[in-house]
Amino acid sequence: MNEKALMVGIFGARGTGKNVYAVQLLKRLKPSRLVIWDHKHDPSMSNFGNTFTDLKEAILAMKAERFHVRYMPDHSREVQKQFDYFCRAAFAAGNLTLMIDELPEVTKANRAPAAWRQCVNVGRLYRGPDGKERTLTIMGLGQRPSECDKSFMNNLDILHTGRIASVNDAKTLADLLALDYRKVMALPDLHWLERRQGQAEPSSGVLSFGGNATMPVQKTEDLQNNLQNNLQKEAPKRGRKKVS
Ligand SMILES: Nc1ncnc2c1ncn2[C@@H]1O[C@H](COP(=O)(O)OP(=O)(O)OP(=O)(O)O)[C@@H](O)[C@H]1O
Ligand SMILES: [Mg+2]
Repeated sequence: MNEKALMVGIFGARGTGKNVYAVQLLKRLKPSRLVIWDHKHDPSMSNFGNTFTDLKEAILAMKAERFHVRYMPDHSREVQKQFDYFCRAAFAAGNLTLMIDELPEVTKANRAPAAWRQCVNVGRLYRGPDGKERTLTIMGLGQRPSECDKSFMNNLDILHTGRIASVNDAKTLADLLALDYRKVMALPDLHWLERRQGQAEPSSGVLSFGGNATMPVQKTEDLQNNLQNNLQKEAPKRGRKKVS
């Protein structure tokens, strides 16, 4: 197995730092097998491996042992169908990190596409057609958490958010973060709140560019160990403080 399976939700209004955080997380996790659904063709994701605009070629690239595939969907064709094929291919390949940018564009709270649902519900540990075990680490980014499917939202190992614009969305996240929704609405750009599975209190911090001073994420291995050992006992880290 290449990577430990984590589910990470990254939210925030436009320009609050979702992709900055996701890039920092990917640099930290260093997945050897990575597939990115780059919904809006974000230039900040252009440094992650090979960019594909042809879905068949992107899926073929997932047959290699190691790959970094960034797929930019064709918006002149049926996006939902492309997303379905993309998720099916990721699930079949397995043992990879699957990042979906602008998740609410392709999934709805009560209408998750079947292939995506399979990734979310089964991806932690499953067997492929060859009988070998596979896992998926899943990262979903979006502005509107209330439009993401519930199985994803309710099974996050890491819930990370910047400022949220609407009361409805802020309340959805505040509920999962166990704090007042107004705190989520008042965050300045690049400021974040985060809660990990097993953590009683959310933590907070500010994203920075370059350097490691406020790198908000632990190594996957450490994180997994901490999840198992109950994160409540973990001492606060540099760049990370509890939110009252
Ligand atoms: N390397 C960098 N140096 C300085 N500023 C940066 C850098 N990378 C991104 N930014 C700025 O950080 C802010 C957050 O950008 P980011 O792309 O993470 O936003 P986002 O939450 O993904 O927004 P959107 O919803 O529009 O995709 C933006 O103002 C962006 O211009
Ligand atoms: Mg973005």
